[in-house]
Amino acid sequence: MFNNNFMIKSKKILIVGAGGFIGGHLVNRLLKDGNSIVASDIKPKEYWFQDFPEAENHYAMDMKDISNCRKVVENIDYVFNMACNMGGMGFIENNKAECMQSVLINTNLLIACKEKKVQRYFFSSSACAYNTTKQKDVFIEGLKEEDAYPANPEDGYGWEKLFSERMCRHFQEDYGLEVRVARYHNIYGPYGTYDGGREKAPAALCRKVILAKKENLETIDVWGDGQQTRTFLYVDECVEGTLRLFESNHSDPINIGSDEQVSINQMIEMIENISGVNSFNKNYQLDKPKGVRGRSSNNDLIKKVLNWSYKMSLKDGLSKTYKWIESEMNQKGSNINRFTKS
Ligand code: GDD
Repeated sequence: MFNNNFMIKSKKILIVGAGGFIGGHLVNRLLKDGNSIVASDIKPKEYWFQDFPEAENHYAMDMKDISNCRKVVENIDYVFNMACNMGGMGFIENNKAECMQSVLINTNLLIACKEKKVQRYFFSSSACAYNTTKQKDVFIEGLKEEDAYPANPEDGYGWEKLFSERMCRHFQEDYGLEVRVARYHNIYGPYGTYDGGREKAPAALCRKVILAKKENLETIDVWGDGQQTRTFLYVDECVEGTLRLFESNHSDPINIGSDEQVSINQMIEMIENISGVNSFNKNYQLDKPKGVRGRSSNNDLIKKVLNWSYKMSLKDGLSKTYKWIESEMNQKGSNINRFTKS
């Protein structure tokens, strides 16, 4: 059962993918909670979204090389694997081979954790692991954990996530390594990608509205017909849910997502309201990557197992995200903080 006193204090924790969006927020939180953090990422220092000098940081470290895993897993209590080569639909639809190679990161880390007797391991899976035939309509019922099977996940990226989930399960069954697995549903917020090709819809659409407002444009581009639906979870809620899950006894994959399902058009309207602009014309680009038609998270299991639910509404989360992207764009013009394949 869930224990209200967080046990994750004064631990030595490895966070892989610490230079990325969710990884950076997780490092921040675990440092505040008084832990000692070893942080690693394949990205060189200048591409980390957040970089905390209090942590032991390993820049440009590739965990597809098992010797790197063995090196940083030494004397570690807990490992959080937040690393994978990913992005929004624009990236994952066009880089399937790249996405699938993240299987090496998870596999090598699990082997190193087993060898070095790490106590507990977290794997960040995705809603892309769910059977796509169950996501063919807009405003579908929320996806339940059992809806991942029979397997027919998102091509490339989703298959890697589903396979790696199972790899975690077998390491627990066969070697006794305790695992925790979350299926994240489109996490968004500050200190993430908002341009360059890897950005997801919330950040991309904030950027487009900010730019249109700045340059007095009348029209913004929207991928698809705008009627496709999603749920989006604010990053602080994601970190909270992740830590609560980590402390629980639940080792099967579980949804960490919102159940506030909106169409892309509805989300754009929220962003337009935040911007103070009435409405832009929409140029619907039907040839752009669209992904599944409808997706939402069913949160019955997480409520039952953790006795917890997120609180932040999409409107409030978007408002925070919008402000951050706007200030970044005012300072830098564009988000250089991106790491594309060479
Ligand atoms: N990225 C993006 N940019 N998407 C847009 C845009 C735009 O300018 N305009 C409209 N969309 C539409 C996409 O066509 C898609 O139908 C929807 O918004 C959501 O796109 P994304 O946010 O890019 O991806 P996703 O929700 O299909 O999948 C994301 O979330 C998964 C977890 O739920 C991806 O990041 C996956 O990697 C992740 O696993």
